[in-house]
Amino acid sequence: MSISSNLIVRNARILLPTGDFMTGNVQISGKTIISVTPETTATVSSDFDREIDANGLTLLPGVIDPQVHFREPGLEHKEDLFTASCACAKGGVTSFLEMPNTRPLTITQADLDDKLRRAAEKCLVNYGFFIGATVENLPDLLTANPTPGIKIFMGSMHGPLLVGGETELDAIFAKGQRLIAVHAEDKARLEQRRQEFDGITDPAIHSEIQDNETALLATKLALKLSKKYQRRLHILHLSTGEEAELLRQDKPSWVTAEVTPQHLLLNTSAYQQIGTLAQMNPPLRSHRDNQILWQALLDGVIDFIATDHAPHTLEEKAKSYPNSPSGMPGVETSLPLMLTQAIEGKCTIAQVANWMSTAVAKAYNIPNKGSIIAGYDADLVLVDLDNYHPVLREELMTKCGWSPFEGWNLTGWPVVTLVGGQVVYERGKLNTNVRGEALTFEDNYSNHQGD
Ligand code: DOR
Repeated sequence: MSISSNLIVRNARILLPTGDFMTGNVQISGKTIISVTPETTATVSSDFDREIDANGLTLLPGVIDPQVHFREPGLEHKEDLFTASCACAKGGVTSFLEMPNTRPLTITQADLDDKLRRAAEKCLVNYGFFIGATVENLPDLLTANPTPGIKIFMGSMHGPLLVGGETELDAIFAKGQRLIAVHAEDKARLEQRRQEFDGITDPAIHSEIQDNETALLATKLALKLSKKYQRRLHILHLSTGEEAELLRQDKPSWVTAEVTPQHLLLNTSAYQQIGTLAQMNPPLRSHRDNQILWQALLDGVIDFIATDHAPHTLEEKAKSYPNSPSGMPGVETSLPLMLTQAIEGKCTIAQVANWMSTAVAKAYNIPNKGSIIAGYDADLVLVDLDNYHPVLREELMTKCGWSPFEGWNLTGWPVVTLVGGQVVYERGKLNTNVRGEALTFEDNYSNHQGD
């Protein structure tokens, strides 16, 4: 595999921005799509460094995963930017937005610059990094650049990355206009319930301790503050039916929300099958929550999908609850998981592409990404919707080496992934010479206008 500067994808079933499909060709020059034409149109130029025969394959915009934890710097025994970006390339994820709970925490411009430098060196896909809020770093939050936004952990504990009290939160919502993304779990209720259930080692208790009310209380508070200041708010990994119903009734145009595949497809029954591997924050919920979240996604109450890829080693996960860490990997299974849902009739392929790419680019104001249009960046994924293949531990590229979806038989696996017009993954092989770019966020100070 060579790095191509001029490439054509021939005879693909191309997803158009209208949501329709067209069989045709996509021509790419450098990092840019230069034409999207039907099969019958004569090709403008035959001078290509590379042709990809996409007969029988479907071409989608590359996935933009807006919430991942890639562990570098400081926790590289779990994952690092190279291994995580390899997993992204295999999973059709061409861009990611990463969270600040690394070591050191990403709470200053210097921390952000360090991550950007590391990513430029070793990331196979495009990257952006959140700045984390503490009770002390407001000046950093106001000026950090480039960043998709400010991440606030309202209840989960990552040292100083915890802003749970209304007064401290109010101070952050009041100043500036940058997007605020919240991990919404109520600090006080969480602490009180941890004490109440102390000593129980059954991991299923995790969903009881950090219950639906714990999430709902925090989401209500974030919404209240966002409305007070008309502050652009994004609610990360919505997990409960109650939060979805709240947003259905009252969601300002400047508020967005996301859901993870695991909160749609797994529930508390997973503890019996995979124990602490099912432990994450916010926790898995009931089958009823799965159903309400699905409906909210289909109805546009929830805007898009994120994996919350949060790898921990199997050794760490083998500790008994509550010493087992919360989190599960996701970037290399999210697209086939969701496309399998589409093929099985739960939603359409166009909806999956919207939730996993188009809507994310729009919400974070990432220019020229999220659609297959001439002039846009050639971040693309060719998927095979005709064959099923199980999630196998031995095929995973994430350093943590496991998935909560092992054994699930999925279709829609990526066959070729392109980042900036370069083939980064093709039929099981990575091109580790490819490097992504730092994402830019246009106008991310202004309120998001909903449809
Ligand atoms: O389960 C989780 N694990 N949820 C988060 O929000 C953080 C993550 C982690 O970093 O391990």
